[in-house]
Amino acid sequence: METTYWIVDSCVEKEQVYPQIKEASDLLKQNEVVAFPTETVYGLGANAWSDEAVQKVFQAKGRPSDNPLIVHIASRNQLESLVVDISEVAKKCMDVFWPGPLTIVMKRKEGLSNAVTAGLSTVGIRMPDHPIALALIKEANLPIAAPSANVSGKPSPTTAAHVKEDLDGKIAGIVDGGATGVGVESTVIDCTTEGQVIILRPGGITKEQLENVTGVDVLFDDALFIEHKQPKAPGMKYTHYAPNAPLYLVEGSPAFMQARIDEKRKEGLKVGVLTTAERKEVYQADTLCTCGYRNDLASVNHHLYDVLRKFNHAHVDIIFSETFPKQGVGVALMNRLEKAAGKKYIREYEEKH
Ligand code: TXA
Ligand code: MG
Repeated sequence: METTYWIVDSCVEKEQVYPQIKEASDLLKQNEVVAFPTETVYGLGANAWSDEAVQKVFQAKGRPSDNPLIVHIASRNQLESLVVDISEVAKKCMDVFWPGPLTIVMKRKEGLSNAVTAGLSTVGIRMPDHPIALALIKEANLPIAAPSANVSGKPSPTTAAHVKEDLDGKIAGIVDGGATGVGVESTVIDCTTEGQVIILRPGGITKEQLENVTGVDVLFDDALFIEHKQPKAPGMKYTHYAPNAPLYLVEGSPAFMQARIDEKRKEGLKVGVLTTAERKEVYQADTLCTCGYRNDLASVNHHLYDVLRKFNHAHVDIIFSETFPKQGVGVALMNRLEKAAGKKYIREYEEKH
């Protein structure tokens, strides 16, 4: 299949529909799949009513069929046909965080493709805060099911070039609207029970922000996980974002990190290091990637997936990454890094109990 490539200025003016967006939305209406930018990562969009269209998404990504997709909307009116029993806390979250990087899991209505929800009685909905995504959904006049536009298991795409690297020739089109903003996927919350908010996947909207807006104690599914034996978000059990070389999270001083690097280089391995701008002069390694600024964790999120892909191009044998505080957006950052590393840590100091 030939993949059409449209370049669209990310400053889409209101009321003006670009011919590229018209073409892309026509393909969506014909049940083809099209990648498009959102404020988090690029999505691979399909008509959420159509089994045929949604199957194409699973096929192109090589995604396990038990992992449901997020449905993207451009206006609150679209909710009516998709969900029932919207809780008061869910409404508060929509009022404040939509459009934005928050996916809300609610009770679904009939009609959506069963493939979208992987047979669950719930569906995750999000209104993205990106002019191109909103224009495309509006023009298609459909709810758009869209996972991240990467091959399953790879880092999510934050540029159209990343999408091309993974899916060229496998999908009908890619709308290139430049690099995305947040850089990690949306926060996914479960709002199926009145008065309760459970974070299923941390993201750009933090626990503290959700608590301020809803006034309830927000729970993490991680804690519940132990009880349930399986995560409520099916996607959380899969390995994700993994670069080709094994990645280790190194917790300790820069000197401790450098000693680990030296050890491996002595064995003849090519070592990659993930650090931030503040420490770029500190390490001697084969490939050093700086990922934003340590004193601004949002900037680390913004660059993270691009840097993980860069290590693949550099053909390193092993990657050591610094770790970051699990606070605010650092929670999402460490969640993605731990997944990419398969939770492999090297610690200078054993944890004190
Ligand atoms: O920022 C984002 O959320 C991006 C952009 C494209 O919008 N999308 C994205 O989709 O990250 P995906 O498919 O890569 O991740 C969706 C996550 C998975 O972990 C999935 O299991 C969970 O959301 N999820 C979707 N529907 C769910 C549901 N009904 N109940 C529980 N978890 C759900
Ligand atoms: Mg994904």
